[in-house]
Amino acid sequence: MSTAKLYPAIIENLNTAVLLLDGALRVTYLNPAAETLLALSARRARGLALGDLLPEARGYLEALRRALANQHPYTEREVSLRLPGNQEPVVVDSSVTPLSSQKLLVELLRVDQHLRITREETRLAQYQANRVVLKGLAHEINNPLGGLRGAAQLLEREIDSDNLKEYTRVITGEADRLQNLLKRMLTPGSPPQRRMINIHEALERVRSLVLAETHQGIEVRRDYDPSLPELSADPEQLIQALLNIVRNAAQALGGKGVIRLGTRIARQRSIGHKSHRLVARITIADNGPGIPAQIMDTIFYPMVSGRAGGSGLGLSIAQTLVNQHDGLIECTSRPGDTVFTVLLPLQP
Ligand SMILES: Nc1ncnc2c1ncn2[C@@H]1O[C@H](COP(=O)(O)OP(=O)(O)O)[C@@H](O)[C@H]1O
Ligand SMILES: [Mg+2]
Repeated sequence: MSTAKLYPAIIENLNTAVLLLDGALRVTYLNPAAETLLALSARRARGLALGDLLPEARGYLEALRRALANQHPYTEREVSLRLPGNQEPVVVDSSVTPLSSQKLLVELLRVDQHLRITREETRLAQYQANRVVLKGLAHEINNPLGGLRGAAQLLEREIDSDNLKEYTRVITGEADRLQNLLKRMLTPGSPPQRRMINIHEALERVRSLVLAETHQGIEVRRDYDPSLPELSADPEQLIQALLNIVRNAAQALGGKGVIRLGTRIARQRSIGHKSHRLVARITIADNGPGIPAQIMDTIFYPMVSGRAGGSGLGLSIAQTLVNQHDGLIECTSRPGDTVFTVLLPLQP
């Protein structure tokens, strides 16, 4: 092959997405990797402004304009881009090289798959460590609490004054409340009693439970994939996990809005470092205000709550239950679009 033919062949076969933009950031060239990334053929992309392809990447486009104006190449790692038609943002390493005042070379290398796996592994390890600490703590509190409660009851029998009995009742009442809380923290300890179940039946149960306890202003739509096979799971645990997520969505909507329940099959999907041939993807989306930014990174931890009077246990229990099924719950959120995704392996 001649050199003249070799260079285009190399670019066409690169794993990195290569884009050439003109002075107004319009696409003049896309290699096949860029076509895949943007889900757009080079023919259709030519002449389109990058701003139309990436409507939400204002900051990124601004940086491209600056590079062009200053004729300065730069590299930015882990840029998160929301591509049209993609629910989750794509994470790329981006290298930008001005070739002239009217020509900008952009290279994008997808890194999210790799990042996602590392992040999932870290998260799974954190949940497990958390669980061990919590369980130990719960046991340590539970035992003396029993003694405290018993002693207060004995005391109550010994005293005649109703006024004083008020006090012992406060002690037993509060001890009961604490014990209840601890019991809920320790609940997901039992291993799942698995049998083959239909995930849609579980979702329908959750749907009717939530509809029964919420306002009429909340609509729960379904978008199920009927070809989803049955999966081996503990139905009670799975319903509990889904219920905790859907209930949060209903609460976030505050009486008005839409919750969407969806199911899909994902092939060759890894959960942490373990890859699975078939994975069920269950999504619970709502159009509420979104998760407060300051708790976004910790919502799956126990005792983290953004609600007055919330226990902060719902999502932590849900995550534990799903982890016990070798699955994982993920979440993305922005105002008007919060999505919880439950991944459950169907086949190893
Ligand atoms: N769909 C949602 N929309 C907005 N915020 C949410 C959503 N789901 C969970 N959250 C936030 O995450 C927090 C933790 O949820 P959870 O663990 O169930 O505890 P709790 O419901 O007791 O507060 C909630 O208090 C809320 O602030
Ligand atoms: Mg909750």
